[in-house]
Amino acid sequence: MSLNNRKLKVGVVGLTVGASHVKDYANSDTVKEIVLCDVDELRLKEIGDKYNISKKYTDFNKMLKEENLDAISLAVPNFLHMRLSIRAMEAGVHVLCEKPMARNAAEGRQMLEAAQKHNKKLMINFNQRFQHECQTLKSVIDESKLGDIYYVRTQWQRRRGVPWWYPLASGKEQCGGGAIIDLGVHVLDRAMWFCGHPDPEWVLANTFCKVSKDEAARRGIQNFELEDMGVAMFRMTNGLMLELEASWASNRENEVITTRIYGSKGGAVLQTVVGDSKSTGNKVFLEIDGEVHDIPLEHIRISKMPNIRQAFLDAIVNDEEVPCTPQQGLKITQMLDMVYLSAENNTPVKFE
Ligand SMILES: NC(=O)c1ccc[n+]([C@@H]2O[C@H](COP(=O)([O-])OP(=O)(O)OC[C@H]3O[C@@H](n4cnc5c(N)ncnc54)[C@H](O)[C@@H]3O)[C@@H](O)[C@H]2O)c1
Repeated sequence: MSLNNRKLKVGVVGLTVGASHVKDYANSDTVKEIVLCDVDELRLKEIGDKYNISKKYTDFNKMLKEENLDAISLAVPNFLHMRLSIRAMEAGVHVLCEKPMARNAAEGRQMLEAAQKHNKKLMINFNQRFQHECQTLKSVIDESKLGDIYYVRTQWQRRRGVPWWYPLASGKEQCGGGAIIDLGVHVLDRAMWFCGHPDPEWVLANTFCKVSKDEAARRGIQNFELEDMGVAMFRMTNGLMLELEASWASNRENEVITTRIYGSKGGAVLQTVVGDSKSTGNKVFLEIDGEVHDIPLEHIRISKMPNIRQAFLDAIVNDEEVPCTPQQGLKITQMLDMVYLSAENNTPVKFE
């Protein structure tokens, strides 16, 4: 049945970062009704009151059974991504799943297969792609202004910022990993999107937990095993080199989210210094008449600035491919698996 011209009934599951999904759905003309789900009743009440939403569930399965939902946003801890998204798709519901897609590629593959089997949209919430500077740079790249991209360095480095409210004591079992899967996934995704999702061939990587162990012990987490920093160098089958760095805690002056791109005709840098807008800078570097010019990205206009949640809803209504596909999510998850394998085995890893 075509959903054209029909407004959607959408559930939001997990209401911490999920609250931002609720906000976007509440502002969307495509949504006729929002249903909330969280095991935390206080959270349910708080968000329900804020957006005047009466349908609230503490039981995901009950919500699926009782509400005839068109779609859900899934913003629950990582170990639940596969289980709940597959259950929703089996029940005929489209899914926008928070990053990372899953704890590992085996889970990601099952999610992709479920989406294909049940003919449901599965989108991964790679929200950095929808930031203004990322959209602008992507439009510059799509116009071939940077030429052949051959080296990308992408990083999210925090001075101190371990998400202690995550179930960190359970280690990889619930989180899938540390800074690499939590923060690295964002900057890896945007880097891969900028350079057209090339296939990885090799990775050499290592992960560390050098800074946070004492703080973890103070918080009652003994044998803290998740990496507070990870570093990886990928070689892609097309020769492109991609360097990834992510940390929850490191000994440096600030927190930065940076992607630097080197192309044959031009280059670019996106640099956000968290909490210091004066040091933030997004530019492209283009050679014009033999001279390299710095062009601030804010001087380049883009025609349309999409919203990630609206993009998901539009893909459902228009029966189009979602912008952040499960295939892209799976490739990213496979790359993260390679990073952890390389670190564990002390060896370069070839992509199979
Ligand atoms: N895109 C982003 O920028 C971004 C930012 C932060 C977190 N995230 C991702 O979002 C997800 C959630 O992160 P968070 O920081 O909001 O975590 P969180 O632990 O603060 O919140 C998760 C919420 O899910 C609820 N929950 C847990 N199990 C549930 C269940 N079975 N059914 C219903 N609700 C349940 C919890 O009560 C909690 O309110 C993670 O996968 C994380 O990686 C994405």
